Amino acid sequence: MSEPRTPVFAANWKMSHGPAETGAFVERFAARHGPRGDATVVVFPPAISLAAFAAAASGRPDLEFGVQDVHTEVEGAHTSGISAAMVPATGATWGLAGHSERRREFGDTDVDVGRKLVRLLEVGLRPVLCVGETLDEREAGRLATVLETQIRDALRPLGREGRARLAYAYEPVWAIGTGRTASPADAAEAHAIIREQLVRAEGCDAERAVILYGGSVKPANIDALLAAPGVDGVLVGGASLDPDSWAAICAAGR
Ligand code: PGA
Repeated sequence: MSEPRTPVFAANWKMSHGPAETGAFVERFAARHGPRGDATVVVFPPAISLAAFAAAASGRPDLEFGVQDVHTEVEGAHTSGISAAMVPATGATWGLAGHSERRREFGDTDVDVGRKLVRLLEVGLRPVLCVGETLDEREAGRLATVLETQIRDALRPLGREGRARLAYAYEPVWAIGTGRTASPADAAEAHAIIREQLVRAEGCDAERAVILYGGSVKPANIDALLAAPGVDGVLVGGASLDPDSWAAICAAGR
C-alpha cells in the first residue's frame, strides 16, 4: 500500500504584511496554532518580510516559510530581482513558481517558470509549481490541455531528481480572489488530470507528489475541499491574511 501524503497548508500573502505586520501575525497565529506532526504549515510572505518571519517564528520550527518568486537568472543587473541563491540564508525552505498573478501581471511564460524551478532546486528549496486555467479556457473545454501544457513545459529543463521534489498547486484563475471556489468535484477532476500527467512524465513521483488546491479557500470550505480525492492541501491567499482565519484553516482534519 502507498504511504499517505502529508497534508500541506500553505499561505500566499502576495503583497500584504510588511515586516512589522509579519511579526504581529506570527505572534498571534502561534498562540492559536500548536505544532501538529500530521501536517505541514508554510507561509509565503513578501520577500521583504522573510527575515521578519524567520525572527518571529524562531521558536517555532514547525512554521515553515518560502519565497513567492525568484528571478530566472542567478545574478546580474536585474533591478528589483531576487536570486534564488539569496533565499536560503533567510531560513526559507520553499518557493512558489508560476502563480497566475506572475503570469498575468509580469508575463511569466512556462519557459520562465521552468527556469525558476531550476533556480529553486539548485539551492535546495522545495518548489511549488502553480498551474490553472482561466474561465475562457475552462468554458472552451481546454482544462486538460492547459494543465498538461503548463506542466510539460515547466518540467522540461528539470532532471529526474528535481522532478521528484516538486509540489504542485492547482489554482483555477477564475477562483482566485473572486470568492468563487471550485467545487470539491472540480478540484478532484483537475487534480486527477495533473496526477495522471505525472504518471506519464519521466522522473515524477506521481504517487508521492503533493497537489494543493488554491482559489477562495476559507474556514467554511476547507473541510470539503480537503476531503476531495487527490487534494493534498491548500494554497490560501485572502483567508490566510488574518491569523485567526489562518489558524482555523490550519486546524482542519486535526
Ligand atoms: P485566494 O488566493 O485564496 O485569495 O483566492 C489564492 C492564491 O492566489 O494563491
